[in-house]
Amino acid sequence: MAEDKNSFLADLNQYSSVKHVIGVVSGKGGVGKSFVTSRLAALFSKKGYRTAVLDADITGPSIPKCFGIETRATADEQGIEPAITKGGIQVMSVNLLLDDAESPVVWRGPVISGTVKQFWTDVHWDDVDYMFVDMPPGTGDVPLTVFQSLPVDGIIIVTSPQDLVSMIVAKAVNMASAMGVPVFGIVENYSFIECPDCGKKIFPFGEGRTDKVAAKFGIPVLASLPIDPVIANAMDQGSVEDLEENYLSNATGVIEAVIATKPEKEDLNDPERKFKIAVPVNAKGNVDQHFDKTEEFVIYETSGRQVVKRDAMNAVEVDRKEIVAKLKEIGVEIVISGGISTENRETIEGAGLKLVPGVLGSAEDAVVKFLNNDLSFSDDKFDEITGK
Ligand SMILES: Nc1ncnc2c1ncn2[C@@H]1O[C@H](COP(=O)(O)OP(=O)(O)OP(=O)(O)O)[C@@H](O)[C@H]1O
Ligand SMILES: [Mg+2]
Repeated sequence: MAEDKNSFLADLNQYSSVKHVIGVVSGKGGVGKSFVTSRLAALFSKKGYRTAVLDADITGPSIPKCFGIETRATADEQGIEPAITKGGIQVMSVNLLLDDAESPVVWRGPVISGTVKQFWTDVHWDDVDYMFVDMPPGTGDVPLTVFQSLPVDGIIIVTSPQDLVSMIVAKAVNMASAMGVPVFGIVENYSFIECPDCGKKIFPFGEGRTDKVAAKFGIPVLASLPIDPVIANAMDQGSVEDLEENYLSNATGVIEAVIATKPEKEDLNDPERKFKIAVPVNAKGNVDQHFDKTEEFVIYETSGRQVVKRDAMNAVEVDRKEIVAKLKEIGVEIVISGGISTENRETIEGAGLKLVPGVLGSAEDAVVKFLNNDLSFSDDKFDEITGK
């Protein structure tokens, strides 16, 4: 399946470089997808990454407006040049190509899908670390084109609590899984209102519904956003980069962590590529959720996508720093763990090992899923994952 998918990938413009692509999807319109897309881009850009937004919502483009872009795209011998926001984010949207941004796009499906592909192949994306793709709502033609044509690293599902959350998330998760793309998590928008006088949170649509759905699918809730006129105003004024809110900063941390631990595609398709992966394991064979007290680590040796050897390492009452040093010594590159403290995380990452935290269930399954690039974070360990 994965190989089949690769054969549909469209060629990137020869002058472009895009390291990571993140899709933002929703079940229906108006739930804040464009806000989440533009805001995540703003936060990644502030972190120092070269960032881009590809507005794949061809019939409802709103990305240029929320960044306050009024210029039009230009073209030169390297391709169509994206517009650049105040903060340096590269943006391409159908709005930048129209003479009048207000005129409707009345194109049929194939033309729309073709345009999205062209944004990948004909635009000159200049050395981009993170590209965010604002998808049109739903699971129709265009998201399919994006999944097939662009090397999407993962998706974020935006939903509001009054939607049929379970159904919408199920559809998005199923689509992503059919296309072999992992889900980073869910952003719940319009979750609550904060009283400007007393700070009390009011949950007009009820509390916890999205959490339940997320737990059911084993994916984290990355953020819950309030209904806040400041957000609507920033989107209207084109100042989404200047917002002071921090609701989505955890989401940026999770995306960075997942991408950092994602094995390279070439590596895994290469049977010669060998990893050593360490997992703290409890008596039941599950990923142990108490890294500090784990009595045994299993060292999996892999070749391509296969596990070829398993060794147990005794860890009874051994200091965790010593354990990590030993793992490194025997050539372990990756640690898959359950919940983990900031201290242990720092020890592991400080030793130059990659950490995949917050994993529940069978250790064996976790390793296999990791090798197939299908491991997502569990939601109830989220606080520990993000070190919050
Ligand atoms: N948390 C929020 N609080 C207040 N206003 C918000 C919030 N999130 C989004 N909005 C506003 O709601 C409107 C819809 O948001 P947005 O454009 O991001 O949604 P969308 O899912 O991209 O919609 P569309 O389907 O039209 O593309 C915008 O005017 C935006 O400014
Ligand atoms: Mg939108």
